[in-house]
Amino acid sequence: MNIPRHIAIILDGNGRWAQSHGMPRTYGHIRGCANLETVVDEALDLGVKYLTVYAFSTENWKRSKDEVEALMKLFRSYLKKCIRVAVHNQIRIRVIGETTAFSKEIQQNIAELEEVSKDYDRMVFQIALNYGGRDELTRAMRQMAREAAAGTLSPEEIDETKISGYLDTGGIPDPDLLIRTSGEKRISNFLLWQLAYTELYFTDVPWPEFDREQLICAIEHYNNRDRRFGGVKKKDE
Ligand code: IPE
Ligand code: IPE
Ligand code: MG
Repeated sequence: MNIPRHIAIILDGNGRWAQSHGMPRTYGHIRGCANLETVVDEALDLGVKYLTVYAFSTENWKRSKDEVEALMKLFRSYLKKCIRVAVHNQIRIRVIGETTAFSKEIQQNIAELEEVSKDYDRMVFQIALNYGGRDELTRAMRQMAREAAAGTLSPEEIDETKISGYLDTGGIPDPDLLIRTSGEKRISNFLLWQLAYTELYFTDVPWPEFDREQLICAIEHYNNRDRRFGGVKKKDE
């Protein structure tokens, strides 16, 4: 089995999964978070080099105050726990998104996590928090405009590689495979630039039930695809 170098996941369906079990949506997030730990282990075991997960979008602030608070509480404890996981497994962790919107404590947890893990290379695990593809592009364009106005960036220098470097994912290869759980077939503002040629896999399985077997199914589906770029068969790196 050819393992995709970079897998991105929109982990969706926590709320519906909980409700279908007669539980509050926030219970679904707790189970979803526990499942993320398992899936990180499985991805590592399968030899995935880059894993990027969508955990909180720029639009998710619109949810009820109670749900947003429960998610923040979960992020605080998860990010702390992640430090041990990163060290134990030699995983580099990066958080992508507009993180200044979070509390000082969460921002500190993120800074610590990124610093502690920055030299590990068994896998790069990116967590998208307060992430939106349009927001990321807007921030990148603002930065480029600032540099152009200051005279340190010329319009002629701007090409696709240059733009990629200004994104939160700068230096990370684009995803080969995108998985979205729980039935919805949309991108919901995730990695708009980076997904240009990514293979898409949608499954009805809700995120709290997405396990190793499901991950292998997604990878097998990817293996059965005839990857093409502009009508030309892509050679795997
Ligand atoms: C995904 O599950 C987790 C987050 C977006 C934080 P949802 O909370 O979107 O669950 P559903 O889609 O409502 O079931
Ligand atoms: C996408 O899921 C965002 C995350 C998984 C963090 P949503 O449940 O928020 O997206 P929509 O509302 O179904 O598009
Ligand atoms: Mg959802």
